[in-house]
Amino acid sequence: MNQDALKQAVARAALDYIAPRLDHNAIVGVGTGSTAAFFIEALAQIKGHFEAAVASSEATASQLQAHGIPVYDLNSADAVAVYVDGADETNPRLELIKGGGAALTREKIIAAVAEEFVCIADQSKWVECLGQFPLPVEVIPMARSHVARELVKLGGDPVYRQECETDNGNIIIDVHNMRIEDPRQLETAINQITGVVTNGLFAHRPADLLLLGTDQGVEQVRAG
Ligand code: A5P
Repeated sequence: MNQDALKQAVARAALDYIAPRLDHNAIVGVGTGSTAAFFIEALAQIKGHFEAAVASSEATASQLQAHGIPVYDLNSADAVAVYVDGADETNPRLELIKGGGAALTREKIIAAVAEEFVCIADQSKWVECLGQFPLPVEVIPMARSHVARELVKLGGDPVYRQECETDNGNIIIDVHNMRIEDPRQLETAINQITGVVTNGLFAHRPADLLLLGTDQGVEQVRAG
């Protein structure tokens, strides 16, 4: 199966997983990226069976609205029953790297609120040790050089992402060449740098369930 077919398969599996768990008052959190986009296409099929969605990016909000799915501001949502999103990397503990699409901060906020976080990913995202994918860090623009110097001290090679402004008006620095043995420790350390909004490690709040698309089918993985 090609990668898009695997993404479509996990999107469908996510719908099958969440549909019986939703009631008419439920709010669904929706992530960003190509896998999440397939999920939105699937979610549209059960529009009306849940109250509304909250979106992790402007692009996702637009796609949801184009399907007639109401999109709430997160502050108007009492609770988020489930959050479904892709990832750039996942390890067996379901700690993730996210932010390839520059939406990491809003993604992390919705993940923090959600009662359950379902990650959908094709098999190319599975790694034993995080860090082959450059780690995205959202940074307040005036702090760019300072944050880059501090990231070097932590052992990384920071690269400014050209022509990228986040939905929050900030920039992204991608940190290359980090073998991340202790994701929680690094997530905390980077977030301590003044000027960092947040980084793309989802280790303190990992996924609860991974739906992993493989050539043998979609596997359900719980944190090991
Ligand atoms: C968006 O900022 C990211 O966190 C995405 O979830 C991640 O990049 C996965 O994207 P794809 O589904 O396009 O691979």
